[in-house]
Amino acid sequence: MIQSMNEFFQKDIISVRDFDKQKLESIFDATNKIIKLKPNDRREIGRGKTLGYLFYEPSTRTRLSFEAAIASIGGTSIGISNISSSSTQKGESLADTVRIMSIYSDVLVLRHPLDGSSRFAAEISEKSVINGGSGTEEHPTQAIQDLFTIKKEKNKIDGLKIGIVGDLKYGRTVYSLLSALSYYDVDVHLISPESLKIRTDSTYEIKKRFSFTESTDLEEYIDDLDVVYVTRIQKERFPDEEEYIKVKGSYVIGLDITKKMKDDAIILHPLPRLDEISAEVDNTKQAKYFKQAEYGMYTRAALLGLILNEKGF
Ligand code: NCD
Repeated sequence: MIQSMNEFFQKDIISVRDFDKQKLESIFDATNKIIKLKPNDRREIGRGKTLGYLFYEPSTRTRLSFEAAIASIGGTSIGISNISSSSTQKGESLADTVRIMSIYSDVLVLRHPLDGSSRFAAEISEKSVINGGSGTEEHPTQAIQDLFTIKKEKNKIDGLKIGIVGDLKYGRTVYSLLSALSYYDVDVHLISPESLKIRTDSTYEIKKRFSFTESTDLEEYIDDLDVVYVTRIQKERFPDEEEYIKVKGSYVIGLDITKKMKDDAIILHPLPRLDEISAEVDNTKQAKYFKQAEYGMYTRAALLGLILNEKGF
C-alpha cells in the first residue's frame, strides 16, 4: 500500500494555535503506536537523525524528554543547554546560532525567554523548528503531552471538567493547554490569585471557541473536577519580587484537598513543582504528574518520528 505524505513531515511546531483536533488526535495515534512498538522497531524510526537543541532558559524535563525521545527512535542529539558556555556569551545572535544548528542537525528544539523566538527561528532554519517553550505564550509540546495524559488516564477528553490552578498570568503551559482544550468539548474552571488571572489579550482567540469560568477559591468546585492541572508560580517572570512574595504559596494541594476531590480525578503538573503539591500527595492514586512526564517522552518521540519521516511510521 502506498502511504501518503504525513502532514507533519518537515513542519515546524510553533504554536497550538496552528493545530486542530484532528492534528492532535493524529499525534496521539502515533504516540500509541510508539508505545506499542518493540524497542528495535522503534529505533528504525529516527535512525541516523540528529536532534539539535538550543536552550536559552533552564530546563530539565523538556530537554531530557527530547533527548530520551530521539534516542528511543534511534537518533542522536547535540545541543546547548547552558548558554554561558556558548558563543552567545561572545555576542553571537540567535539567528546565527540557529543557522549553525540547522546545518548540524535534522530537527531543532528551541527554548527562549522571548515570545515569538521560535517563529523567528523557524524563518531562519532550513530544518523544522520545535518550540520547546517561548516566553509566556507557548509551550506546544507540553500541551500535547498534557492532553495525551488526560486521554490515557481518563479514556476521553470530551465531557471532562478541568480545573487549572496557579499562575495563569505568566505560565506558558496554561496558554498552550487552553488552546489545545478549546478544540474539545470540555468545561474549564480557572483558579488563581486575583493578580495572576489569565491574560485576556492572549485568550481572545481561544474565547471564540469556548468559555471558561474563573475564581480565586480552590475549594469551590474541587469536588466536581475530573482533572486538576496545577502550575508553579513563575517567580522569574515577575517584574517585582514583592509581588511574587504576596502570591507565593497561594494554593497548596495536600491530602486535605485530595480527599475532597473525586476518587478518580487526576492531578497533573508540568513540573518543576515547588510547594504547590505536597510530597505526601505523590502516593495517592490521583497523582499523575510523573506519569505525565513519562508520556512526554512518548509524545515527543511520536512527533519527531512524524517530522522526520515523509510517510510517517
Ligand atoms: C514548564 C515551563 O518551562 O514552562 N516546565 C516544563 O517545561 N515542564 C513549567 C514551569 O517551568 O513551571
